Amino acid sequence: MTASAQYPSLADRSVFITGGASGIGATLVKRFVAQGARVGFVDLDEAAGKALAARLAPDARHAPLFQRTDVTDIAALRAAIDQARAANGPITVLLNNAANDTRHRIEDTTPESWDAGVAVNLKHQFFAAQAVAPDMRAAGGGSIVNFGSVSWKLKQGGMPVYTTSKSAVQGLTRSLARDLGPAKIRVNTLVPGWVMTERQVRLWVTEASREEIARGQCINELLMPDDIASMALFLAADDSAMCTAQDFIVDGGWV
Ligand SMILES: NC(=O)c1ccc[n+]([C@@H]2O[C@H](COP(=O)([O-])OP(=O)(O)OC[C@H]3O[C@@H](n4cnc5c(N)ncnc54)[C@H](O)[C@@H]3O)[C@@H](O)[C@H]2O)c1
Repeated sequence: MTASAQYPSLADRSVFITGGASGIGATLVKRFVAQGARVGFVDLDEAAGKALAARLAPDARHAPLFQRTDVTDIAALRAAIDQARAANGPITVLLNNAANDTRHRIEDTTPESWDAGVAVNLKHQFFAAQAVAPDMRAAGGGSIVNFGSVSWKLKQGGMPVYTTSKSAVQGLTRSLARDLGPAKIRVNTLVPGWVMTERQVRLWVTEASREEIARGQCINELLMPDDIASMALFLAADDSAMCTAQDFIVDGGWV
């Protein structure tokens, strides 16, 4: 990728990222650290999170803080946010990125597996927003970016708890944007298309996928984590000061 934008408003800003150890989240961590932001991130994958933090620290204006946290454990998530605040200062950017797109059949879904799916794909987004909102109010504003997905818009089957949760993320965004708007807290949904992360390539991308992408996307190029991170930077920066309650779709023109 050619040199990308540097946002003066992101320098030294306290940013909290969920699911930051791999995939799009790891690129978010890298790109926000490169902006000079103070980044706190959480993930289940301790080895990958520690390795990423160690890799980025030497060249960072602020070394990122990694904490091994399960976002479905709301008490643990709150504690991690408290730790990040203590280390980096009041959090004024929240990237609600963690999710799990495990496939499951309608017939095999139980009340327990349904609740677990909602917990990892939706519930933590609300409670993380709730936890950082007082920081943002006190700071005179902030930006919350909730990660959605094009999958439910494309009527993709095979993972109804994920697709249902991701559709609800867009409703969550619009609800929070109204309540938090008077405090100049902006809330938007970043909606990725089919992004070529390690997990996607390992599990789901086949020979036939290239043709599907060519048919679906208007731009016949592979969508990469950096394409999503570039939009996240813009939504976090003051450059998007009047953008709130919106869905920002980065999918090469598929939906
Ligand atoms: N990759 C895509 O094609 C695509 C498409 C549409 C939407 N998205 C969305 O973008 C975001 C990132 O997706 P990705 O493809 O990078 O996902 P990924 O599965 O590659 O990475 C998700 C990260 O979240 C972490 N995580 C999972 N469960 C967790 C938990 N309970 N607690 C803490 N961390 C947890 C994982 O360990 C992993 O590091 C997600 O919200 C996803 O729904 C991705």
